[in-house]
Amino acid sequence: MLVDSFGRVATDLRVSLTDRCNLRCTYCMPPEGLDWLPKPELLTADEIVRLVRIGVERFGITEVRYTGGEPLLRREIVDIVARTSSLGAELSLTTNGIGLARLAGPLAEAGLHRVNVSLDTLDRDIFIKLAHRDRLKDVLDGLAAAEQAGLTPVKVNAVLMRGINDHEAVPLLRFCLEHGYELRFIEQMPLDAQHGWSRANMITADEMLTALRAEFDLTDADPRERGSAPAELFLVGGGPAKVGVIGSVTRPFCGACDRVRLTADGQVRNCLFATEESDLRSAMRAGASDDELAQRWLAAVRVKKAGHGIDDPTFLQPARPMSAIGG
Ligand code: GTP
Ligand code: 5AD
Ligand code: SF4
Repeated sequence: MLVDSFGRVATDLRVSLTDRCNLRCTYCMPPEGLDWLPKPELLTADEIVRLVRIGVERFGITEVRYTGGEPLLRREIVDIVARTSSLGAELSLTTNGIGLARLAGPLAEAGLHRVNVSLDTLDRDIFIKLAHRDRLKDVLDGLAAAEQAGLTPVKVNAVLMRGINDHEAVPLLRFCLEHGYELRFIEQMPLDAQHGWSRANMITADEMLTALRAEFDLTDADPRERGSAPAELFLVGGGPAKVGVIGSVTRPFCGACDRVRLTADGQVRNCLFATEESDLRSAMRAGASDDELAQRWLAAVRVKKAGHGIDDPTFLQPARPMSAIGG
């Protein structure tokens, strides 16, 4: 078991397949993009499959989530899903949705169970302003394709930003209710490459709920349904429809965290906000056995901190931005 010094057990492995992306969401990266990881530093498909297998077989990982950057940009994604689907863990994907119109079917066939898709606005002009690309239609087509392929429940992630899309909480929820997608509103975290985050500018979970309650009747969902998931769930109009709020900053859930991350260049991170990483790629390429890799992995998880510390006066944003950690 991947257990840390506070007794938390990591059962949810998040694997970043690439740091590249075909959008430029302002809360993530600058319009000109970033210095991408050089290809030789990326884990190969074989290396990814090996580490996922160690995670599931030795450590009892029950959920594997492929992330990015944008994971659908990784050419071998269908192959990686197919080769890890027989391990028995639930396989999910967090994507901006753009490649799903083409890939939802093949991914479902390869054994992917479900997807979470980012959608911050329904307005084409705002999408262009926010993501610096004219791709809203591709995202909406991707969502429909995911539903069609049975990658359900399809969850939608929306980061609300003041003065940009914060007036869209109600229309986004209406849209998701109509289509049967489970929407979650996310508090922006200080993980953007530009270091432009500010606490004062962040739309809080309380603000999101106030905006939604002006139009919808929200009641607390059964807390057992949440488990250790980041999203606090509410029933809309008495249910069964739900909406989630991910209050990473004002309502942190670090005490129940069950996550561990593997970056596209093969570093174990025990937290989004970790200050240290453990280099499994170099160990693997130097000939480490499964036992040796497992020992390193265990040691990396053991030293996980109690929480993200965003409110500490000494807080420092991690050197890696979200796109290079894995969302
Ligand atoms: P499921 O509920 O299992 O579908 O997944 P999820 O919501 O954890 O996954 P997703 O990749 O869709 O993440 C949604 C958002 O949750 C991210 O954009 C982050 O804002 C937040 N999140 C995910 N993992 C973490 C984490 O380890 N710590 C914190 N603080 N936030 C996280
Ligand atoms: N804060 C919160 N969520 C973020 N995401 C990307 N950057 C941030 C951030 N700084 C979200 C995306 C996507 C998921 C991978 O992470 O919207 O849904
Ligand atoms: Fe790409 Fe996701 Fe970052 Fe947007 S948040 S630029 S979709 S990696």
